[in-house]
Amino acid sequence: MKDLTRALKRRVELSDSSDWTGAPVPTTPRAAAPAPAAAPRATARPATNPATAATSSSARRKAEVFAELSEKIKTCRACPLGAARIQAVPGVGSHDAQVMFIGEGPGFDEDHKGEPFIGRSGKLLDKIMESIGLSRENVYIANIVKCHPMVDPSDPEKRGNDRPPSPEEIEACRGWLDTQIRTIAPRFLVTLGAVPARVLLGDSTPISKIRGVWRDYEPGAGAAKVRLLPTFHPAALLRNPDLKRDVWADMKNLREEMSKS
Ligand code: SF4
Ligand code: URA
Repeated sequence: MKDLTRALKRRVELSDSSDWTGAPVPTTPRAAAPAPAAAPRATARPATNPATAATSSSARRKAEVFAELSEKIKTCRACPLGAARIQAVPGVGSHDAQVMFIGEGPGFDEDHKGEPFIGRSGKLLDKIMESIGLSRENVYIANIVKCHPMVDPSDPEKRGNDRPPSPEEIEACRGWLDTQIRTIAPRFLVTLGAVPARVLLGDSTPISKIRGVWRDYEPGAGAAKVRLLPTFHPAALLRNPDLKRDVWADMKNLREEMSKS
């Protein structure tokens, strides 16, 4: 019963798109509380990157690279996940994004639809992005591995059959993500949870210690460094709503940096 009450309460919290943050309940009038959806300053600047959105020929080139990349990812068998998946999940969003969000790997819902972050944590990610004026149309969302890592690879129809990707799977898949980063050339990367931070930064410090601190990422092949902000994974926020406060602080930090030229 207690669990049911808690689940219902959580559902109510998550259905309120104007306040996913779990900010402390104000004792003063509510208007004084942080209001994530109220002031998306980032919308003052385009969320896509004018520097790379520049010419139609560069847009065409990016579209071609992404079309080819998608085809290659969809038929990739470079690691065992390729044989078990229903479909690969290359990524979604704008090729001119200023910000790329990077998760760990597709789950059940993503494997079925071929799009990242569409399950429960994806719905929360949508709200998190929305609170600073971002959306899945103006950012790019991708994962460290493009196929669903399953505990039992023979049963992709089973829910709860998820596991983290292995080091070998991560290594095999890594090149796809770096190509995506180099092609988009975003100003900012936001890693969601421990795995993408550990993989991209080569740093196993607990996520609770490294979140909110800007780092640099080199996507290889001589491409320019990209600033990277680690934060918690939305799934962690579903398990522990107290973490919302930190993610909201990180999103404000990102919004502030985006507003600088
Ligand atoms: Fe290829 Fe990555 Fe899928 Fe493995 S997870 S099969 S490396 S696309
Ligand atoms: N969790 C992730 O890390 N990525 C997804 O695409 C969905 C859930």
